[in-house]
Amino acid sequence: MDFFVVPDAASTGAIAAGIVAAVIRSKPEAVLGLATGGSPLPVYAALAAHRLDMSGIRGFALDEYVGLPAGHPQSYAEVIRREVTERLHLDPAKVSVPAGAAEDPERAAAAYDAAIAQAGGIDVQILGIGHNGHVAFNEPGSALDSRTRVEALTERTRQANARYFASPDDVPDRCITQGLGTILEARQLLLVVSGADKADILHTALSGPVTTDCPASILQLHPHVTVVADEAAAALLGARAVNGTTPVAVRSRAVGV
Ligand code: F6R
Repeated sequence: MDFFVVPDAASTGAIAAGIVAAVIRSKPEAVLGLATGGSPLPVYAALAAHRLDMSGIRGFALDEYVGLPAGHPQSYAEVIRREVTERLHLDPAKVSVPAGAAEDPERAAAAYDAAIAQAGGIDVQILGIGHNGHVAFNEPGSALDSRTRVEALTERTRQANARYFASPDDVPDRCITQGLGTILEARQLLLVVSGADKADILHTALSGPVTTDCPASILQLHPHVTVVADEAAAALLGARAVNGTTPVAVRSRAVGV
C-alpha cells in the first residue's frame, strides 16, 4: 500500500489525478472506476487540468440511487455527467452508471458486472470512504465477495448525503452498488480521503482487522492500493505532510498500516 499525505483536501486532487493521469498515458483506452460524493471532486478538477486525450477512456460509476427519476440532479448519473463526463471530455457513450431508475434494478445490477468484465475490467478504481466504513454503497455487513447488487442504505449514510437534497426524507433508501468483490477485481484502488471526521474510520479500515463490519478494510486485501489523504484524515495513522506543503509518500509499514 502506498500512502500519500497532503496538507489539505484540495491537495489530494493533484496527487490522485497524477496517478490516474499516469494510467491514462500508459493506456489511452483505460477503464476508470468513478466515485461520486465530495472526496473525489478535487481529483476530477485536477485531472481536467492535465488536458489528456480522453477519447478512448471508459468509465464505470461505483453506485447509483434506486428510486430517483432519470435526470434527477442528485442521481449519480447526473453527478457523473456534470462532474466527470463533461469536465473531462469523456465520450458519454463510454461512461456507465448503474441503472437505478430501471424497472427491474436487480436485473440492471446483475448486468453491470458483466459490462465491466466485457470492457476488460477496471484499471484504476477511485474510492471514497463513508463514516461507517462503507466503500461504494457497501454498508457494514456486506460480504467481502459481494457483487453489484441492490442494497439498502443505512440511516447514517442517508443523513450524510442529505446535504445534497432539499429534505433528508428525499434521500432514497436503496441503491445499486458495485460489490466488494467487484471492487477488489480492479487492477488498482485509489482511495481519496479528507477531513478530521474521517480520521477514525480511516485508521480502523487500514490498521484494524479485515471484517465485514468495516467494508473499507478490504483495501488490505488488494495488492495495488494507493491512499491519498489530507493531514486531518491521516492524523491517527501518524503520517504528516512535510513542511505543510510537500506531499509525503510513505510505504505502508512506516505508518503502521
Ligand atoms: C460515492 C460512494 C461513497 C462515497 C462515500 C464518501 O460514489 O461510493 O462510498 O465515496 O460516501 O462520500 P464523501 O466523499 O462525500 O464523504
